[in-house]
Amino acid sequence: MLEATHVEKHFGGLEVLTDLSLEVQDGEICGLIGPNGAGKTTFFNIVSGLLRANGGTITFNGEDITDTPPKDIARMGIGRTFQITRPYPTFTTTDNLLPGLLYSGGYRKVSEARTRARELIEFVGLEHKADMIGRDLTMSEKKRLEIAKGLATDPELLLLDEVFAGLSSSDVTELIELVEEIRDDMGVTVLLIEHVMEAAMNVCDRIMVLANGEIIANDRPEAIAQNQQVIDVYLGTGEESYA
Ligand SMILES: Nc1ncnc2c1ncn2[C@@H]1O[C@H](COP(=O)(O)OP(=O)(O)OP(=O)(O)O)[C@@H](O)[C@H]1O
Ligand SMILES: [Mg+2]
Repeated sequence: MLEATHVEKHFGGLEVLTDLSLEVQDGEICGLIGPNGAGKTTFFNIVSGLLRANGGTITFNGEDITDTPPKDIARMGIGRTFQITRPYPTFTTTDNLLPGLLYSGGYRKVSEARTRARELIEFVGLEHKADMIGRDLTMSEKKRLEIAKGLATDPELLLLDEVFAGLSSSDVTELIELVEEIRDDMGVTVLLIEHVMEAAMNVCDRIMVLANGEIIANDRPEAIAQNQQVIDVYLGTGEESYA
């Protein structure tokens, strides 16, 4: 479904991605992990069209989307969440979904979009906050709203950037189930960036590790947890480790 080939990105003299190649198959839940500053969010920004790569190509369902603007990428079927949650602060939870639904989700009428928004709000478990203003939501609720906003654009592929970060362990358990439902019930393929290893190991079919500008490992979660190079550059050992 998604294929990145030899992607490069630098910011001035800072080489972030030097040779990133990866692919995501239809129906997978894939993880992208790696140290802080490795370029994971930068990669999402390139895929979703917010940043331009300096080299390499990205294809989606066989179509080259390397230099496609974000509005077209959303309409082609790639949705995303933001690591720093961005609710429309003065809109209600439900109305936060209207721009995505009307722009890219296939809805023309506000009334019909609002009905769909309420379904998605219920799907992510926010029905009791449907009429609350975006900025008044808790961190955990904002994460759920981010996911609903991603789904509102009617994606085939959903990019989730650290939706588990900063959540309690019971919230993590619930969100793992939600991500599984997104794939199993909505038929949406998922690529997620995560530092919460409990979540990534549990929910992902396959994990790719980004370090030093390229993918250094690509395997089932159990194999990633045992991979010495991954342990050395990222997971670590002992109490301070992520594993
Ligand atoms: N728009 C930008 N302009 C300049 N530098 C940037 C920009 N975006 C990211 N960077 C830099 O690129 C590097 C990679 O950042 P990025 O946010 O992609 O890392 P990350 O892997 O998502 O890290 P984290 O796990 O901490 O979220 C960092 O050094 C960051 O400061
Ligand atoms: Mg990031």
